[in-house]
Amino acid sequence: MSQPDGQSNTLDNLLNESRTFPPSEEFAAQANVTSALYDEANADREAFWAKQAEGLHWDTKWSQVLDWSNAPFAKWFVDGKLNVAYNCVDRHVEAGHGDRVAIYWEGEPGDSRQITYAELQREVSRTANALASLGVGAGDRVAIYLPMLPEAVFSMLACARLGAMHSVVFGGFSSEALRTRINDAQAKVVITSDGQYRRGKAMPLKANVDDAVAGTPSIEHVLVVNRTGIDVEWHDGRDKWWHDVVADQPDQHTPEAFDSEQPLFILYTSGTTGKPKGILHTSGGYLTQAAYTHRTVFDLKAESDIYWCTADIGWVTGHTYIVYGPLANGASQVIYEGTPNTPHEGRHWEIVQKYGVTIYYTAPTTIRTFMKWGAEIPAKYDLSSLRVLGSVGEPINPEAWIWYRKNIGGDRTPIVDTWWQTETGAIMISPLPGVTAAKPGSAQTPLPGISAKVVNETGKQVGNGEGGLLVLDQPWPSMLRGIWGDDQRYKDTYWSKFADLGYYFAGDGAKYDTDGDIWLLGRVDDVMNVSGHRISTTEVESALVSHPSVAEAAVVGASDPTTGQGIVAFVILRGGAEDAASGEAALAALREHVSKEIGPIAKPRQIMVVPELPKTRSGKIMRRLLRDVAENREVGDVTTLADSSVMDLISKGLKSSS
Ligand code: WT7
Repeated sequence: MSQPDGQSNTLDNLLNESRTFPPSEEFAAQANVTSALYDEANADREAFWAKQAEGLHWDTKWSQVLDWSNAPFAKWFVDGKLNVAYNCVDRHVEAGHGDRVAIYWEGEPGDSRQITYAELQREVSRTANALASLGVGAGDRVAIYLPMLPEAVFSMLACARLGAMHSVVFGGFSSEALRTRINDAQAKVVITSDGQYRRGKAMPLKANVDDAVAGTPSIEHVLVVNRTGIDVEWHDGRDKWWHDVVADQPDQHTPEAFDSEQPLFILYTSGTTGKPKGILHTSGGYLTQAAYTHRTVFDLKAESDIYWCTADIGWVTGHTYIVYGPLANGASQVIYEGTPNTPHEGRHWEIVQKYGVTIYYTAPTTIRTFMKWGAEIPAKYDLSSLRVLGSVGEPINPEAWIWYRKNIGGDRTPIVDTWWQTETGAIMISPLPGVTAAKPGSAQTPLPGISAKVVNETGKQVGNGEGGLLVLDQPWPSMLRGIWGDDQRYKDTYWSKFADLGYYFAGDGAKYDTDGDIWLLGRVDDVMNVSGHRISTTEVESALVSHPSVAEAAVVGASDPTTGQGIVAFVILRGGAEDAASGEAALAALREHVSKEIGPIAKPRQIMVVPELPKTRSGKIMRRLLRDVAENREVGDVTTLADSSVMDLISKGLKSSS
């Protein structure tokens, strides 16, 4: 079993937590759905999804719900036509909700802006007209490298409106990461801002784009939002200010209906190799599942809820649960630009109180940070408006779950622990807040319409109380349609492990408890999960060896009380570099180098200088043993090492910096 090492303790922990939290009678009585939804979906899955799709506006209805004849390349709602942006904006205005606030935007320095659906329609129309004037049309790619500004939402929806694809790159990624993503997608335009506010300071952002774009021949224009007023370099002709190009555009734009399978976006995510994968999502099926899951998992009441998802728009959570799901449902939501401790550690709770937030969706790493800051901080604010809490990105430990429920949810609110991935596009496994008796630490049940199983290495479903690998054994509407430009990699990565069975292999270990509920146990591949962000070990290793002083590098994710995993690197230095580079300053420079190559999130927590790396006879690095060292455990079985004395050498001679 390729259950991740170091998980067994966690597992014992989890299984000792046996309390359940059923919804209150009051909550259950007002919930959007009941347990009958599972029965309905089981009776006829395709009819069930067709019914969900009918909640959207289609210009042309589909002729077939699912075409899986060319598996694993799916087509959902075949021949159907719709405009995604129309569904997220215009139709709410046409239904008389133009005055409803779509976005309560809160800037880090304390400025704020309210945008109604009618205003959103005008902003998106202007942006679409502006992009069209820059030559963007259906099928083109637009890179978006922005902080959490309303313009990020306008830009994404403007692309959707034009049938163009966006590729949002997280603003914390380096210029190098931006360059490779732009080149892979062959984007025509990149949208950015002069700078971004981070912990009270205006930091440059466009400068990264200037560096990246020096190596991206496909980019014709850089569209720049003026957010901070800091100085920027300007390339006449190529660079355009948002306020020059967008502001004067007509605020009307007629949306065109596109095929249900029209590509909507590419979002890059780390795989087990160094090269990030461009995950491709399309329109009709994606929007159907985004809207459905947002409505059912969060029990959304569009007229009265104030929803807040704290993710960044640069991750899939921001795509599906800030932009497409909530807006397709006509929700009112908070978008916050900054960090949770600017200017103080109560900022999130101040915002919840200010807007009367009712649904709050965040990551376990954030919850654990709040725990560290102390329960007395949220206790200072009125959080009684909250009625549903959500968690996403990594397994949530029962302690954090209980803390969240008690200190944020007033021992009252249901918590939904939502399992999904960039590839799945939308939530797959989660409790339903008005139905499920929640178990702290378990995502529990595939949603109505979704099928997931825990299987052994041969694909056979394991029994209750047993662990294995998580697979998705039925196609789902918001599934990825491929890896941009690399069909083979798509098949190899997700569909080859259980090829005979046609299962999608998620890369996660999981376990059924004795009731048959699913507990996620973390990745089983060489992918780390740091603060809910996926980072590949190989990517960090490549960054390390690109430094002149490093001969070889091996990277592991070691468990970390706050971030879930922390990055620990083992490096062999080049001859001569050893003395100079093993000093604190030199190791700090190496960490900085990784940050510059990939982004600050990939910076190793710790770097250890070693004389050798543990390898099998075929040359594969045995990360399991390095993880033992990184987590201060006794080193496990070394019999498959080419040279079994290597681990002694490593343990003896450790010099480290953190
Ligand atoms: C990986 C996907 C889905 C949006 C954020 C991350 C882990 C995600 C959970 C959860 C246990 C989880 C998995 C998955 N993961 N949610 N509720 N419980 N693990 O998206 O970057 O594509 O990462 O995150 O390991 O495979 P992503």
